[in-house]
Amino acid sequence: MTEGILTTAYIAASILFILALGGLSHQETARRGNIYGIIGMAIALIAVIASEFVTNYAILAVCIAIAAVIGIYVARRVQMTQMPELVAILHSFVGLAAVLIGFASYLDPTTHFEGPDAEVAKTIHEVEIYLGVLIGAVTFTGSVIAFGKLSARISSKPLALPARHWLNLGLGLICIWLGVLFVGAEEHSGFLPLLIMTLIAFAFGVHMVMAIGGADMPVVISMLNSYSGWAAAATGFMLSNDLLIVTGALVGSSGAILSYIMCRAMNRKFLAVIAGGFGTAGGTTAAGGDQGEVVAVSADETAALLKDAKRVIIVPGYGMAVAQAQHVINDITRKLRDQGVEVRFAIHPVAGRMPGHMNVLLAEAKVPYDIVMEMDEINEDFPDTDAVLVIGANDIVNPSAQIDPSSPIAGMPVLEVWKAKTVVVMKRSMATGYAGVQNPLFFEDNTRMLFGDAKASVDAILASV
Ligand code: TAP
Repeated sequence: MTEGILTTAYIAASILFILALGGLSHQETARRGNIYGIIGMAIALIAVIASEFVTNYAILAVCIAIAAVIGIYVARRVQMTQMPELVAILHSFVGLAAVLIGFASYLDPTTHFEGPDAEVAKTIHEVEIYLGVLIGAVTFTGSVIAFGKLSARISSKPLALPARHWLNLGLGLICIWLGVLFVGAEEHSGFLPLLIMTLIAFAFGVHMVMAIGGADMPVVISMLNSYSGWAAAATGFMLSNDLLIVTGALVGSSGAILSYIMCRAMNRKFLAVIAGGFGTAGGTTAAGGDQGEVVAVSADETAALLKDAKRVIIVPGYGMAVAQAQHVINDITRKLRDQGVEVRFAIHPVAGRMPGHMNVLLAEAKVPYDIVMEMDEINEDFPDTDAVLVIGANDIVNPSAQIDPSSPIAGMPVLEVWKAKTVVVMKRSMATGYAGVQNPLFFEDNTRMLFGDAKASVDAILASV
C-alpha cells in the first residue's frame, strides 16, 4: 500500500470517528454513530495491516485470532449491568499496551537518530516514551482498581491515607526528577529511572482510585476513559502513527468532556477530579436510623393509580437494569398512552451504572425518544404530576442530597419526585442504593412502596392497566 493510500485511509477513518462521536451524542443518531465507528475502525485496521509497518503476518494472525475469540466470548457473556466493569478492564488494556510499547520503543536496538537535529529528535522521542508510560501505567492500575470496585471485588469505601495529597505531590515530584534523569541519560542507561517511574505510576493509579468513594465512581469511569485516550495518543507519538494520535486525542478529549458533564451532574469540582483528590468525604456510610413508617401498596392499586392519573412520570434506575423490566415498562407506557394518560420518562445523568445506561435500555425496549426527558428538562414538572413510578432507582431520587449537608451525596442534583401528588417506589427491600445512604423519600406521606422484583411487579401492573 502506498503512502498516499495509507494517508487517505487514515483521514477517512478519522472523519468516521468524529462522525461516530457526533452520532453517539443523541439517542436518535446513536445507532448510525456506532456504524460509522465500526466502518472507521475496519478501514483503520485494514490500512495498518496492509501497510509496510506489518512485517510478520503469522504473529499478527495468531494475536488477532486469540483476541477475537476472547472478545467474542466476553461480549456474548457480559450482562448489561456488568458493562461498566467491562469498560474499566478494557481501559486497563489500553494503559498496559502504552506501557509495553513505551518499553519496547526505548529498548528497540534499531532506533538511531542521525543528522544535525539528532539530539533534539532523541529528546522528543524520550519525552514521548516517558509520558506514554506514565499515563499508561496510571490508567492500567487505576482501571484495574475501578474494575474491582465496580464488580464489588474491592470495597467501594474510600481509602483515606493520612497526608494523602502530600504523598501524591511527593510521588509527582519524584516522577519529574526521574524524567529529567531519563531524558538526560546516555543510550539505554535511562532504563532504571523509567522502570522506577513505572512502579511509582502503578502505585499512584491504585492509590488514586482507592481513595475515591463509591458515589463518585461515575466520574472515575469517564476520567479513566479520558486517560486511556491520552495513553493511546502518547503511543501514537511513540510509533509516529498519525491515526493513533488523532483517535487517542478524540477519546481523551471526549472522555474529558464527559467527565466534566458527570462532575456537573454530581456537583463535584472538575479540577479536584483531575487531581484525583475527590470523593473522600463519607462515601458509603449509611445514614440509617429509624425514619418512620413506610406504606406498602399492591400492583393492582398501582395500576389503578396510573390509570386515574392525567400525567405520569417514570423514573428508571439501576434496579430496572437488574430486573430487565424495560420491555414491560414500554408495554405499560403504550397501554396508558392509548388510554389518554400522558407518560414521560425522567433520566438522571448518573442513573444506573454507566453514562447513558437508562437511555440504552429504553431505546432497546423501543420507548419513543420524544417522551424520554433529561433531568433538567423535566425536574420542574413534578409538582404538576399526578403519579411518579420510581422503578429500581434510589440515590437519584434521594432528597437528602438537598437537605443533609453531611450526606455523601450532598449537593448532587436529584430528581424531585417527592413534589408529585403520589410516588410509587418499586424495589425489593429497604436496602440502600449505590451510595449506601438511606432515602427519606420512602417515608414521605405521599410515597407508596411496591416491594418485589421490578420485573414481577411491572408484569402484575401490566395485567391490570
Ligand atoms: P441505586 O441508587 O444504586 O439504587 C438502585 C435500587 O434498585 C436499589 O436501592 C435496589 O433496592 C433496587 N433494585 C436492585 N435490583 C432490583 C430488582 N431486581 N428489582 C427492583 N429493585 C431493584 O441506583 P440509581 O438510583 O440508579 O443511582 C445510581 C447510583 O449509581 C448513583 O449513586 C451513582 O452515583 C452510582 N453510579 C452511577 C454510575 C453511572 S455513570 N451511571 C456509575 C457508577 C456508579 P433493593 O435492593 O431493595 O431492591
